Amino acid sequence: MSSIKGFIFDLDGVLVDTAEYHYRGWQRLADEEGFPFDRKANEALRGISRRESLLLILNGRILPEEKIQEMMERKNRYYVEYIQQVSPDDMLPGALDLLHEIRQACLKCAIGSASKNTCTVVEKLGIAHLVDAISDGYSVTNPKPAPDLFLHAAGQLGLPPGECVVVEDAAAGIEAAIAGGFRSIGLGPIERVGTAEVVYPSLDGLLLAKILTDLG
Ligand code: BG6
Ligand code: MG
Repeated sequence: MSSIKGFIFDLDGVLVDTAEYHYRGWQRLADEEGFPFDRKANEALRGISRRESLLLILNGRILPEEKIQEMMERKNRYYVEYIQQVSPDDMLPGALDLLHEIRQACLKCAIGSASKNTCTVVEKLGIAHLVDAISDGYSVTNPKPAPDLFLHAAGQLGLPPGECVVVEDAAAGIEAAIAGGFRSIGLGPIERVGTAEVVYPSLDGLLLAKILTDLG
């Protein structure tokens, strides 16, 4: 029998393609401000908190705190505008089936996302009944790559980290999982998530049994 008793899913880019909307929000802000930014630069922002993302875009430029706050609020306004259209149809391929399989197998399931918009997105996707706990951008002070958010989620599930597998699309998320002593699954290219124990291109077509076998 597998030692894995629970799953902790990142949200953006794992269960739903809101990573694209985060990117568009930052791109719009960067264009307005004349900061160089593109999809390639955005890869480093995956999983990173709102403030840390902006600081990466600023690339050493020093701005007054009020301006930083204003820019974070502006990007969030754009993001909130984009996610208005999110619906259950926006679940990434394979994600809903896997959540159902986890429920049927009586394993625990949490969401561990840095986003302060997590609850809104979960509600729009209609998956709240499939998760036992949500840890989000309000739950802890230290963002990924610190393990705090996943430790918070595991605590809510009542499981030790070694019995939980973290599913992530971000380098910072895999780093956080490893730092916290979690099992890890990376979704995406090896260059981004190659340090995870197991790497898949996406959740598309993935069965729970295969995941548990691959993790050993
Ligand atoms: C993460 C995203 O899930 O949440 C990041 O991958 C985002 O791109 C971060 O910056 C914070 O999200 P929010 O909604 O609180 O700005
Ligand atoms: Mg993500």
